[in-house]
Amino acid sequence: MHLSPKQLFLHSLAQTNPNPLALEILSASGNYLYDIHGNKFLDLISGISVCSLGHQNPIVIDAVIEQTKKHMHVMVYGETVQMPQNNYADFLIHHLPKSLDNVYFLNSGSEAIDAAMKLAKRVTGHAGFVAHTNAYHGSSQGPLSLMSDEYYAPKYRPLLNQVFFIEQNDIQGIDHLPSENISAVIVELIQAEKGISISNVEYIQKLYQYAKSIGALFVIDEIQTGFGRTGTKFCFEQYNIVPDILVLGKALGGGMPIGAIVAPKKIMHEFSINPILGHITTFGGHPVSCAAGLAANSEIFQNYAQFNIPHKEALFKKLLIHPKIKKVTGKGLLLACHLVNEVDGPSLIHLLLEKKLFTDWFLFETNAIRICPPFTIEDDEVEMACMIIIDTLNQLK
Ligand SMILES: Cc1ncc(COP(=O)(O)O)c(C=O)c1O
Repeated sequence: MHLSPKQLFLHSLAQTNPNPLALEILSASGNYLYDIHGNKFLDLISGISVCSLGHQNPIVIDAVIEQTKKHMHVMVYGETVQMPQNNYADFLIHHLPKSLDNVYFLNSGSEAIDAAMKLAKRVTGHAGFVAHTNAYHGSSQGPLSLMSDEYYAPKYRPLLNQVFFIEQNDIQGIDHLPSENISAVIVELIQAEKGISISNVEYIQKLYQYAKSIGALFVIDEIQTGFGRTGTKFCFEQYNIVPDILVLGKALGGGMPIGAIVAPKKIMHEFSINPILGHITTFGGHPVSCAAGLAANSEIFQNYAQFNIPHKEALFKKLLIHPKIKKVTGKGLLLACHLVNEVDGPSLIHLLLEKKLFTDWFLFETNAIRICPPFTIEDDEVEMACMIIIDTLNQLK
């Protein structure tokens, strides 16, 4: 029986959703995706905050080819000296505050959050965690334990059970959090899957003080906000605090899979003693991923001003005005366009796809569409995207 690519996808690949977008990708280049039917889609989501330089950037491709010619996987993380890992760790440390001087490369954002949770337990001797309601930190069982949501998590319980939730920006709520047995407070500073919801500086600083006062670590998940997406290299720079553990993923790999935690060496050291092998991983810090990530993020940090991100943010906010749009939230090129209740976000996304605009929804805010395009998006492409959204809204009853 001959199956079309879409039929094969639906038949032979595990599905995560009964109604997938199922765009049949042939190739991707710059700010566009191309399908097997000859259609060209403007990419408004960069693979969910991953491909900040757009697709197939020659700088990244060259780095991948060069590293592939030297070596790919040779040995599990931590046992051999591999220059791509050394070089990338050196780069990251150089761009971070002094205390964040040690990098552990992992496979994904979820694994990085898991490693951060384990490290916090190990360092503090405590078992509990404080997390935000409607935060998303990943899908494996550690990060899933940090999910407050009553739709996604319950069927997978029991999970880790000493997790206390606070609503983002509930500054008074901090006074009611537990005063003992907390290993870490884990936060995204901008809650992406809540529909790009920004934490107040005053609130985060008080939460940080709370963590310090009870001997807990302050862990910041910059998996979606890192590497220039919100207007600074890392989002925590906007909050005047330095995390005890910084968690990275997505754009960290320049389009290749990788995650990382960055922490003071004296903390990270705990993974290597009594017991040794406190966290181990076969593919963490894959040399090709490290080479790609270093190439992409060197380019981004070196030429950051040229991407003119504040201007593009302002342009989206200026052009996305319509009676069916409630507001546009977010910072830099991590934005959400929130719709009035009568508009169904997922249906709108399907309509936009018909008009060759590729966007997406959020886990905890279905009445909004995601706008996190490559930094390389041009002004006329921003205008085109906004025009398509406005035209489509005009056509809705
Ligand atoms: C803020 C945040 N943390 C963690 C994760 C999990 O990362 P991964 O999908 O690489 O496991 C994600 C993924 O969307 C995320 O957005």
